[in-house]
Amino acid sequence: MTLPADADRLRADIEANAAFGRVETGDPDAHARTNQPGSEANRRARDRLVDRLRDAGLDVAVDAVGNVLGTWTPPSADPEAAPVVSGSHLDSVPEGGIFDGPLGVYAALEGVRAMRDAGVEPDRPVGVVSFTEEEGGTFGNGLLGSSVATGELALDEALALTDADGETLGEALDRIGYRGGRAVDAAAPTDEAGEPTTLDPASWAAFYELHIEQDTTLEEAGAAAGVVTTITGITHCEATIAGEANHAGATPMDGRTDALAAASEFVLDVEAAANDVVATSSPSAVGTVGSLSVDPNATNVVPGRVEAAVDVRDVEAASMEAIVEAARDSLARLERERGVETAFERPFDVAPTPMSERLREAAHDAADAAGREAIDLHSGAAHDAMRVAGVTDASLLFAPSRDGISHNPREWTDWDDCAAAAEVLAGALARVAVDE
Ligand code: CO
Repeated sequence: MTLPADADRLRADIEANAAFGRVETGDPDAHARTNQPGSEANRRARDRLVDRLRDAGLDVAVDAVGNVLGTWTPPSADPEAAPVVSGSHLDSVPEGGIFDGPLGVYAALEGVRAMRDAGVEPDRPVGVVSFTEEEGGTFGNGLLGSSVATGELALDEALALTDADGETLGEALDRIGYRGGRAVDAAAPTDEAGEPTTLDPASWAAFYELHIEQDTTLEEAGAAAGVVTTITGITHCEATIAGEANHAGATPMDGRTDALAAASEFVLDVEAAANDVVATSSPSAVGTVGSLSVDPNATNVVPGRVEAAVDVRDVEAASMEAIVEAARDSLARLERERGVETAFERPFDVAPTPMSERLREAAHDAADAAGREAIDLHSGAAHDAMRVAGVTDASLLFAPSRDGISHNPREWTDWDDCAAAAEVLAGALARVAVDE
């Protein structure tokens, strides 16, 4: 069974979506769009998605946080069976690219159309989902719609989040008609008490997300698709190093407790710890001191206090712990050797998320059947699939990104590459939607 995706149809969808919030940058190689939740561009992108879902014969529901779900229930499918769902997001960062998110939404729809065109008879309904505010930066920190739907974030907390103008997410969704399905006369899920609620990914049999890779592994390998094994975990730590601010001219070198000199050793210790883990146990581990704030930060004052922000990521929880431990050890050493006082906090911690074995296999089988090369890799970036993986089987597939560029108007994936990856996705969906 092969399910060729219609490259022209997929391209037309992605190009039409790219027009909402298009930004002219003056660069002929750039394709920029700004599509932030609650904006007019966002409303129009949603409206068009709903139209396209309905054109393809899907029933549309919009939940209380604006997540959109189209469901295809052909005569072969048991309408009560747990659906197989695929999708991603339509929002973008400011002046972002046109593929990050929309490829996953429209490739999922193309997958349904390809199945229908090829006469596939799924035993379960097949859904196409678009999650609200994946990118973050307007109301939340990212993965907003999928976090609420999977119970990671309470609905009322999410709706109360505010943007820079003080408007809440609930008000913004109301304004564009997507707090529920009012704008497009779509069904809106309710709980047992009849209150508006969200989609329930825990009730899905499987979830696939196709996304651009945002790195160069596939491009270098010449592969059509990536099958993600694990989405890396992320930890953010905050180290505070306190010395003594003093006159840079009048304080002799042996009378100083220089917080920035100590912090410099800390930066190098974290780098060395990450290099050590890479060399000995986990080549994918990374550790970064990405931000320093120096107080008083004046040329003629010995630095009195430094706050250092550390970002640690890997596919192995143990490797992340090793780097975090090394950072703590470094601070303890600096207290002993340099007389500084230190504090260490770990305000943000997401464990590595393995993807479903069963769904990864189905994706490889689909690639083989289509004569497309698919390779295993890990994802260094978080995606909605990470949240869905917390409640049901989930899989993340990648399409090649030219030069690995993303969150940038120069982000690009060739149309044939979009179609090839969509074909792999369609085959995987068909395999999982047809019971053995
Ligand atoms: Co994305």
